[in-house]
Amino acid sequence: MTDRELMTIAKRAAMNSYSPYSHFPVGAAIECTDGTVYTGCNVENAALGSTLCAERIACAKAVSEGHQQFTRLAIYADSQNWCTPCGACRQFLAEFNPELEVLCARAGDRYVSYRLSDLMPNRFEF
Ligand code: THU
Repeated sequence: MTDRELMTIAKRAAMNSYSPYSHFPVGAAIECTDGTVYTGCNVENAALGSTLCAERIACAKAVSEGHQQFTRLAIYADSQNWCTPCGACRQFLAEFNPELEVLCARAGDRYVSYRLSDLMPNRFEF
C-alpha cells in the first residue's frame, strides 16, 4: 500500500469523528507488519479530558485484535498545520514501535513523514 492510499483511509476514518466540541475531525490509519490496517477517529466527550484521539483509538483497536507490530501510521485532519500526534499519543505509540513512520497531513491533502523517535525522543520507560 502506498503512503497516499494509507492517508486516504485515514481521511475516510475522519468522517466518523465525534467532535462536537472542537469541530476538529481527525482520522488515523495504522498499518501492521502483516499489512492489516486499523482505523480510528477522535471521540470527544463533555468531560473534555475523557476525549480519545484518533491515533490511540486506531492503535488500541489493533492491539485488541492481536496486533502489536506496526510499520506506518497516517493521520489526517483538514487543518492549517501538519496534524502531528499529541504528546500522549507519541508516548502511547512509541510503546510498540519507537521508529514508527508517521505521516501527518494538513489541508490540501499534502503530508509530511516523520520518524516517531524524532517526534518523541527519550520516551518514558521503566
Ligand atoms: N486530536 C486527535 O485526535 N489527534 C491528534 O493528533 C491531535 C488532536 C483530537 C483531539 C480532539 O478531539 C481534537 O483533535 C482537538 O484537539
